[in-house]
Amino acid sequence: MSISSSQAWKRLAEHVAAIDKTHLRDLIQDADRCEAMTAEHNGIFLDYSRQRATAETMDLLYALAEEAGVGARIAAMFSGERINTTEDRAVLHVALRAAADQVIELDGVNVVPEVHEVLGRIRDFSDRVRSGAWKGVTGKTLTDVVAIGIGGSYLGPEFVYEALRTDPACEETAQGRRLRFLANIDPIDVSRALDGLSPETTLVVVISKTFTTAETMLNARTLRKWLVDGLGEASVAKHMIAVSTSLKLVQEFGIDPANTFGFWAWVGGRYSVSSAVGVVPLSLQYGFEAVERFLAGARDVDDHFRDAPLRQNLPVIMGLLGVWNSTFLGSATRALLPYCQALLKLAPHIQQVDMESNGKRVNMAGEPVDFQTGEINFGEPGTNGQHSFYQLSHQGRVIPCDFIGFRQSQKPVELNGEPVSNHDELMANFFAQPDALACGKTEDQVRAEGVAEALVPHKVFTGNRPSVSLLADKLDAFTTGQILALYEHRTGVQGFVWGINSCAQWGVELGKVLAGQVRGQLTRSRKEDAPVGGFNPSTTGLLNRYLGR
Ligand code: F6P
Repeated sequence: MSISSSQAWKRLAEHVAAIDKTHLRDLIQDADRCEAMTAEHNGIFLDYSRQRATAETMDLLYALAEEAGVGARIAAMFSGERINTTEDRAVLHVALRAAADQVIELDGVNVVPEVHEVLGRIRDFSDRVRSGAWKGVTGKTLTDVVAIGIGGSYLGPEFVYEALRTDPACEETAQGRRLRFLANIDPIDVSRALDGLSPETTLVVVISKTFTTAETMLNARTLRKWLVDGLGEASVAKHMIAVSTSLKLVQEFGIDPANTFGFWAWVGGRYSVSSAVGVVPLSLQYGFEAVERFLAGARDVDDHFRDAPLRQNLPVIMGLLGVWNSTFLGSATRALLPYCQALLKLAPHIQQVDMESNGKRVNMAGEPVDFQTGEINFGEPGTNGQHSFYQLSHQGRVIPCDFIGFRQSQKPVELNGEPVSNHDELMANFFAQPDALACGKTEDQVRAEGVAEALVPHKVFTGNRPSVSLLADKLDAFTTGQILALYEHRTGVQGFVWGINSCAQWGVELGKVLAGQVRGQLTRSRKEDAPVGGFNPSTTGLLNRYLGR
């Protein structure tokens, strides 16, 4: 049965009319409501009082969560059930950050010891590279790393890399080292990734769950050639390592299995940053201890997600509000707005986590759903976004926003003679924007400012635009892990409520197959001068133009 036929769903749908009679500028005046619409877990404070929701809305949302069996689905995930039914796989990214003495079983076997065996190997390897014990073929220390990978084998690691780049502790351990990412098959990306690097001091990490992804494999061959051209064939053994679930394909590529770090089919690509996918490049850059702190942060939120009652459970609250805004109130998008430049890659990462997970048209039973799933995610750090797209969210479309801020800056600056520190200036905006969205400005208020009558409508803000505010102490490795897990599980909750499979991504396949057909055509046309054939007239025309025919 589709969740949309449930009583809980119908009650929420009916409740929209009652909420439509309210306005956030009034709701926000109720101190008890404001107090009630907060939740906190280990340094992360969530304020959701600027949601178009009342206590009754929340009750109805929790009833929907019960109806959808969210609690049972969380338990099933943690207990290794094969909840990814279309691929017959368990979904155990939480096991990647489990403590060594935790037990998480898959088919009766505890997977945690395997996880820690790989972590131990990464610790050993990264220590050796960083200390210079592991050298390149010309005897030099490998100070630079190029991580090749795309999608989940890139976005998470880059998000964490950026989050920690200006964290003082990580800055210290990264001294003298560089980490670059090579994701796009565009040769421009190769050029940018290699800019200023020498093969002699560079370690190339090929990261691919399947070791078949076209972009990653061609980029791997491209960098293999770069190494071999510069240093000879023998350099591959010292300068190329891999992260994959397919040791066989890694070996066929020519990378020593001893220099390969594995992970498992039960780790979804977009949930793999806590596996060797992220742990290898990040340990090489920041040292294994920093990555351990990141994993501990993720574990902290995993434990909270598994154990906290629904009403105090941050990812559950955020996921339910996402369902409310997108499915019931009709907002297609949501914005991720960290008031922290170090989180500049949060939105690109969560775009994949959320949109690849929840962009689905059928439920677990394969029946088309009669409601929209997924949200269009986008975002930019504040205050940059304010000078870019916020206009649309203030006076154009309603875009539910996640504001994320910190009490302390990674890089505090306070100038003599300035009224506030630079971080306070940033955070003034973090506090102001949600109220501007929620409360807006009425015609009367605009007139009271003496605005010329013709301009009054242009200066009105209708308000009633929802947001949540997340406030934490400071962004460090631990908090980065917490934020990651918070958003991973938020996505999971939405998928559980919608009754869809958030763990597979069949939607990306068709384009890959068609690209293969085009690749074949380009090969035949370039090498044998074959005419373009087998495509629709539009594509045939475009291909002929591309080939200069
Ligand atoms: O095309 C989508 C996808 O399959 C993602 O889910 C995955 O993260 C990415 O490609 C990369 O895959 P791989 O790690 O196997 O190279």
